[in-house]
Amino acid sequence: MTLVSIDDQLASLSSSQSSVAWRSPSNIAIVKYWGKHGIQLPRNPSISFTLDAAHTDTKVTFKKKEQVDNDISVDFYFEGEANEAFASKIIKFLDGLDEEFSFLRDYDFKIESSNSFPHSSGIASSASAMSALALCICSIEKILTGWPNDSTDFLQKASYIARLGSGSAARSLFPEVASWGTHSEIENSSDIRAIAFGDELHESFKGYHDDILIVSAAEKSVSSRAGHALMEGNPFAAVRYEQANRNMVSTIEALKTGDILKFGKILEEEAMTLHALMMCSDPSYILMKAGTLAVIDKVRAFRKETYLPLYFTLDAGPNVHLLYPDEVADQIWPFIEKELKPFCVDGKIIRDRIGSGPRMI
Ligand code: PMV
Repeated sequence: MTLVSIDDQLASLSSSQSSVAWRSPSNIAIVKYWGKHGIQLPRNPSISFTLDAAHTDTKVTFKKKEQVDNDISVDFYFEGEANEAFASKIIKFLDGLDEEFSFLRDYDFKIESSNSFPHSSGIASSASAMSALALCICSIEKILTGWPNDSTDFLQKASYIARLGSGSAARSLFPEVASWGTHSEIENSSDIRAIAFGDELHESFKGYHDDILIVSAAEKSVSSRAGHALMEGNPFAAVRYEQANRNMVSTIEALKTGDILKFGKILEEEAMTLHALMMCSDPSYILMKAGTLAVIDKVRAFRKETYLPLYFTLDAGPNVHLLYPDEVADQIWPFIEKELKPFCVDGKIIRDRIGSGPRMI
């Protein structure tokens, strides 16, 4: 598939259009964002791989209201079916965006959204869903007002808007690797939006694999909002934020130099730290399942035996992301399929890769 630049995609928008649609991917954090303040402002910077297979498609159709009122008017369809609960969440979200978009109360919006991954897979869809919605609303702004002229302003605003919906969504807007959060050694870094890592990603990380093992498809026992909030009283919060800042520097260096071993070590340290923080919060939560620990044990034993660079990470849930370079995929996949698949619900594994970012559809 030839990649069309975001600038060219924006140039293809026309003022006669009455709908826009974007496909936007999920992302997996290497250095995790955990702890926030204000409106989705992170307590520490984070960096992630943009994914590809796990994505949301969102189409927004907009029509000038026949009778002007002050309401936000949204009909929302998820996977073809009207969904009132999601509609009211989106209305609440858009209701806070008057300063960012002046046209929201003048139109009736119909939003149709679907995910590439099953709803009940336990995979968080907020990053792909909020980034896809942000891209659509920013495209409507472009159609109605002509602003912005270039992809830099467009993506910065879309990332800012996505962040207001779901913090980690800010990072889904950029190809391959994105970072979010102010860091003294990262140029242009900001707490209010993410930035692209740029073209310094080492060859070894091109096409990197992320096989997502669905160990449990159950609803999370604690929402990410509540999880972030628990960091406020966590006795290890300050040292954690320092650790994240250090891990950012090491991760960036590893990504530039192709140091897969250093990368893998941080990847696992970050996953274990996130879960340890939840375990020692008040109240305490254990987000791993027995299958999660069994998979982790097996991955570590496999690495010891084969010296192959297979490393894991976790989101705030029980499912395991297995990351490895493409060049060893033939040696690693048979192990995953034979030894780890039995721990997955109905043998479910989402085979994903580092991706090229969102695109208009
Ligand atoms: O974007 P939120 O509020 O769902 O938080 C995401 C938090 C983690 O996925 C655990 C880490 C991250 O940086 O993505």
